[in-house]
Amino acid sequence: SKGTYEFYMLKEIDEQPAVMRRLSTDYLDKAGKPVVDEKIVDAVSQADRIYIFAAGTSYHAGLVGKEIFEKLTGIPTEVGYASEAGYHFPMMSKHPFFIFLTQSGETADSRVVLTEANKRGIPSLTMTNVEGSTLSREATYTMLLNAGPEIAVASTKAYTAQVALQAILAKAVGEKLGDQAAKDWNLKQGLSLAAEGIQEIVDGKDKIEELAKKYLVPSRNAFYIGRGIDHAVAMEAALKLKEVSYIQTEGFAAAELKHGTISLIEDGTPVIALIDDPVTADLTRGNIQEVASRGANVITIVGKQFAKEGDNIVLPEIDYYLSALLSVVPTQLLAYFASKNKGLDVDKPRNLAKSVTVE
Ligand code: F6R
Repeated sequence: SKGTYEFYMLKEIDEQPAVMRRLSTDYLDKAGKPVVDEKIVDAVSQADRIYIFAAGTSYHAGLVGKEIFEKLTGIPTEVGYASEAGYHFPMMSKHPFFIFLTQSGETADSRVVLTEANKRGIPSLTMTNVEGSTLSREATYTMLLNAGPEIAVASTKAYTAQVALQAILAKAVGEKLGDQAAKDWNLKQGLSLAAEGIQEIVDGKDKIEELAKKYLVPSRNAFYIGRGIDHAVAMEAALKLKEVSYIQTEGFAAAELKHGTISLIEDGTPVIALIDDPVTADLTRGNIQEVASRGANVITIVGKQFAKEGDNIVLPEIDYYLSALLSVVPTQLLAYFASKNKGLDVDKPRNLAKSVTVE
C-alpha cells in the first residue's frame, strides 16, 4: 500500500536505500565476495562479448552496466534497444552472452530478441524484478532484482537495482577472470555508501522540490547534459521528467549540444548538468558556461569531489562506476515534484501502461 504517501513514485524513490542494502545482503557475503550462481559466472566468463537488450529505463540502466562490465571484466559490451535488435539482429561475435534487463519480465520487444537468441542457442540471463515472469522462464538464467513490487508507471527503484546488480555480476565475472581491479573493488562498501547517500539525498527533497517549482514547472522544455556515465544518467533523467511532467526533455552528451542543439537554448531554458566523471568534470563546466551565456537556467548536480561554490545539488562522494546510483536520485525527485506541482497523476501518466506487452 501507499501508506502515508500520496503517490507510489515517491514511496519507491524512498525505498532505494533499503533496496541497495538488500542487494548487498543477498548477493555479497560478509567479506564482500559476490554470491552469484557459479553457472552464470562461468557462462559470462566464457563470452567474448556481452550484449545487453532492454527498453526504456531498463535500456538506460544497461548503458551504465556497459561501462561497469567493460571496466571490471574486460569483455566488450554492447547495449541495444530490444525493439530494434528483434528485427535487425546485430552481427554476433563467436561467443556472445545476452543479458535482458526488464523490471516486469514481460516486455514484448525483449521477448522477440530472446526467442531469436534461443533459436540460435545463445546463452542468456534475465535480470528482472518478477520471479516466474516470461523473460525469466525463457532465458537460460535469472537473477532477481529483489526491489519489491514497483507500482508507479515511472520506474525508479528497479533502475538503481539493475545498476547495482550489474555491478555485482561484473565483479563476480571479473574475479573469475582473475582481474585484480575486480578483486580489489570494495563493492560492499560501495553499496553501503550508495544506501547512505541516497538517504541523504531524499532527506534533502524539499530543496529539490523548490528547484522543480522554480525552474521546471513553468517551462515547456528542458535539457539534461553529462559525459560518461552522466550521459547515460542524463538520458534516463530526461525520460523520467518528460514521462511524468509532460515537459519535453532531452538527455545529451554534454559536448554534443554545441554541434547543433544549442540553437534551442533561450532565455530561461532549464539545463540540468550532471558532473560525476573525474576525467571530464572540467570540460562539462565549459559546456555549462556555453549554455549559461545563452540564457539557460542551469541546475547543477555534482559529486562532492567536484563541487564548486554555487552548485545546486551536491552528492555524497562515491566511486565513479557507482555514481549513477546517487546522481539519478535527484533527477527522479525533480521529475516527481515537477509532475506533482503541475497537478498531474504522477503514478499514471497519460497514454502509458506499466508493462508494455505489445511490440
Ligand atoms: C519508464 C519505464 C519504461 C520501462 C520499459 C521497460 O519509467 O518504466 O520505460 O522501463 O517499458 O520495461 P521493463 O523493464 O519492465 O522491461
